[in-house]
Amino acid sequence: MRVVFPEGFYFGSATSATQCEGGTEGDERGKNIWDLWYEEESFKFHGNIGPEITSSFYENYREDVRLMKETGHNSFRTSISWSRLFPQGRGEMNQKAADFYRSLFQELRDQGIEPFVNLYHFDMPVAMQELGGWESRRVVDYYKEYARTCFELFGDLVSHWFTFNEPIVHVECGYLSGYHYPCKVDPKAAVLVAYHTALASALAVREYHSLNQGGKIGIVLNLTPAYPRSSHPEDEKAARIAELFQNKSFLDPAVKGTYDPELVEMIREQGLLPQAETEDLEIIRQNLVDFLGVNYYHPFRVCAKAHVPNPMAPFTPEYYFDIYDMPGKRMNPYRGWEIYPRGLYDIAINLRDNYGNIEWMVTENGMGVENEGRFKEDGIIQDDYRIEFYKEHLTWLHKGIQEGSRCVGYHVWTFIDCWSWLNAYKNRYGLVELDLETQKRTIKKSGYWYGELLKHNGFE
Ligand code: BG6
Repeated sequence: MRVVFPEGFYFGSATSATQCEGGTEGDERGKNIWDLWYEEESFKFHGNIGPEITSSFYENYREDVRLMKETGHNSFRTSISWSRLFPQGRGEMNQKAADFYRSLFQELRDQGIEPFVNLYHFDMPVAMQELGGWESRRVVDYYKEYARTCFELFGDLVSHWFTFNEPIVHVECGYLSGYHYPCKVDPKAAVLVAYHTALASALAVREYHSLNQGGKIGIVLNLTPAYPRSSHPEDEKAARIAELFQNKSFLDPAVKGTYDPELVEMIREQGLLPQAETEDLEIIRQNLVDFLGVNYYHPFRVCAKAHVPNPMAPFTPEYYFDIYDMPGKRMNPYRGWEIYPRGLYDIAINLRDNYGNIEWMVTENGMGVENEGRFKEDGIIQDDYRIEFYKEHLTWLHKGIQEGSRCVGYHVWTFIDCWSWLNAYKNRYGLVELDLETQKRTIKKSGYWYGELLKHNGFE
């Protein structure tokens, strides 16, 4: 069987500024919340490794773009670091940062690699966090100004933009579970942050469209389809509610300009509904994304609650459902995530049938593996497990496309092994291995396979 993708399909990979750039003395970048958190509590980061050096992309980008050519990229997603460009989040711009990003995007273009550029990947500037971060309506406006500056500075080189990466993550991890700074457990703040983020995204969309640069702007969402344990009505209800919180909370405002009334009602019932200005709701309603990025790693299995929730415990969406631990599920044990390639097909069909068949692409899909050195033979990591993972996901994606879903690309996570937040360099995801000591790059077997994938626009 040959799996062949449509002409002009985007193949490539994704990374983010904080996870790959690092910096140099005198690069004049400002700090973001990850720099700050690492200074305050470095013990929380795997192996005590922080974001200072990561994969030194800031210095090595030219060489790295050449490696992209070798590993089958016709496109690449990264993000702009807000605090690198504006060390204080606003006001004076760091010219060195502007020069770096221009030069990077130009280099990509010169090599025939289409840049996809994201404006925010979990990395709030410290100066903006001090003003309240996403809890603050003012910060929403500063983000809008930062976004506009990016379009003005780079819009001649970049015609595919994203406003946010996985916004539900900074809501949940930052304000419900303690896995991102500011590590608050404050459900009311979480809902406000979610709402402000959707508003900020819509404002960036409005700014971009007003400049008439001719490109497209979207948002990257981690869609984790919710599957019920059984067809019992209470299990099915659990899945519907999980879907509302996990997926529809950002998908609906971004693509339809609305919030699902059932979700709004539940949030109201919990006493968490923020005060929303009519004109802000109107901004969300009117400024829809042109296309969608979808990160997919694992499904979400749920069932009806077994016990009445503790009424004193701070609210989380799990007030309404339990996580279902399905027997025999296929696991990536290093990351603790289930592997379920068919999920990508279900996403494709959901977008086709329920979201106006919007144009979309897979913006992340990948497999993080610990201690990959043990798979090295003749100096190359033989990551056949990763090739299998990609093939299976691509096969299901292809089926979705054949059935009419408008998917235009597939990006793996990630290009070169990168720094994974609290997990630091524990799990490696790259098509290219990084030696942390020497920063030497070596293409893995999957990187060579990916090169062939692009050449044939598919695989056997
Ligand atoms: C996505 C993020 O959630 O998954 C990336 O956009 C992240 O930033 C990736 O690195 C893999 O997850 P993790 O937690 O293993 O790094």
